Amino acid sequence: MLKEKNLKLKEQITAPTGKLGVLIPGIGGAVSTTFIAGVELVRKGLASPIGSLTQLGTIRLGKRFERRSPRIKDFVPLASLDDLVFGGWDLYEANGYEAAMFARVLKREHIEPIKDFLRGITPMKAVFDRRFVKNLDGKYIKEENNLRAQVEALKEDIRRFKDQNGCERCIMIWCGSTEVYLQCEEIHQSVEALQKAIDANDSRIPPSMLYAVAAMESGIPFINGAPNLTVDVPAMVEMASQNNLPIAGKDFKTGQTLMKTILAPGLKSRMLGLEGWYSTNILGNRDGLVLDDKDSFKTKEESKLSVLEYILQPQLYPSLYKNYYHKVTINYYPPRGDNKEGWDCIDIFGWLGYPMQIKVDFQCRDSILAAPLVLDLVLFMDLAQRVGLSGIQEWLSFYFKSPMHKENLYPEHDLFIQSMKLKNTLRYLMGEDQITHFGLDYYMKDDENEEK
Ligand SMILES: NC(=O)c1ccc[n+]([C@@H]2O[C@H](COP(=O)([O-])OP(=O)(O)OC[C@H]3O[C@@H](n4cnc5c(N)ncnc54)[C@H](O)[C@@H]3O)[C@@H](O)[C@H]2O)c1
Repeated sequence: MLKEKNLKLKEQITAPTGKLGVLIPGIGGAVSTTFIAGVELVRKGLASPIGSLTQLGTIRLGKRFERRSPRIKDFVPLASLDDLVFGGWDLYEANGYEAAMFARVLKREHIEPIKDFLRGITPMKAVFDRRFVKNLDGKYIKEENNLRAQVEALKEDIRRFKDQNGCERCIMIWCGSTEVYLQCEEIHQSVEALQKAIDANDSRIPPSMLYAVAAMESGIPFINGAPNLTVDVPAMVEMASQNNLPIAGKDFKTGQTLMKTILAPGLKSRMLGLEGWYSTNILGNRDGLVLDDKDSFKTKEESKLSVLEYILQPQLYPSLYKNYYHKVTINYYPPRGDNKEGWDCIDIFGWLGYPMQIKVDFQCRDSILAAPLVLDLVLFMDLAQRVGLSGIQEWLSFYFKSPMHKENLYPEHDLFIQSMKLKNTLRYLMGEDQITHFGLDYYMKDDENEEK
């Protein structure tokens, strides 16, 4: 239940004035550099923010005959792209220009016009521990060698960044590598247990959690773009609520999983059965290298596998979905770079059990799909903090492969339900009616028998 008394609705929502700092662990990566360069190109009028709901999306208001469909960015008070400033950390010292060139996502024609801007983006030294990301060996790392000192060093970085850039508010978004698979343990159960574990230099705490603690202790919302455990533990949810901060995660929904959450709801809504779904990818960027380690891949695999189970609900439809075989693999193949190719072989069955096959060959660009999600998440999380929405931002499930959710609820993976949830949240915040697509009044005979 929303505690309305804590929320600022409609004209009470604090205006998005001043600079909004975007703090990115992993700022030298493919997703980060594609996002930052893209925002700058859009600001300069040199490119279009395709894929971004906040920039291009509209929202229908009222009944269909009212024909009210404003742009989302004109409907809710979002920060302007001109007010975004970028900072972050990486274990490689490369500046934004060098990092974007290394990532090989954007062409020179997109990088050269903003060369000076990108050169000005220099990473801060990372908090890094190779036990959690085995295939990277960058040396641009903080000297502090205990966890508490590392948290404090990150907080000092944040303070300095805010001061130097005159930021009114900040958002932290993890675009760093996928860490090895971790399970929620007793040290993650409460803020007290987590803080004690940090003080005791507990070896089970990964860097991503230290960034999240530093963010929240600095009053900054945290978004997790990787499948890492990070804020998906009770201690972090408690910390977010204590500090009245929104958190969201995890793992940007791009590529193959995006396709899965588009196709699977359609098959299910037509009551078509599934015998097997075989998914494989080839990927040659640094993310692919990290995922070539089996422990990091396990984190990703868990994130990718859960999707179908929740969408298809085999417990409700045993004759259609009880025993389907689901396999996901990622193969590191350097020549392909960031241009991932995802194949899906889907074995379905229809009327009387007759088998059919669907093949998907998605020749996508990983970071091109991820960058607009980063932008939308930053702007919506900033809105959430100004509205006073704290804790898990489930309305942003739309953007994630493994949406965070309350313990007693199952996550919503269906892209279309997620989209409706997001837009209805915006309508609610702005005092507009929810759109349920109910439509029974369509058939009623009265003077107002308009198409609804
Ligand atoms: N479509 C997508 O690209 C996509 C989709 C979903 C999730 N993700 C996730 O987003 C993250 C970024 O993806 P990418 O393709 O940009 O990968 P990348 O390897 O290009 O970038 C990650 C960056 O994080 C840095 N890093 C690692 N650990 C760090 C730490 N402790 N502190 C600071 N920096 C650190 C690395 O040096 C690297 O520069 C990955 O976890 C990936 O799994 C990406």
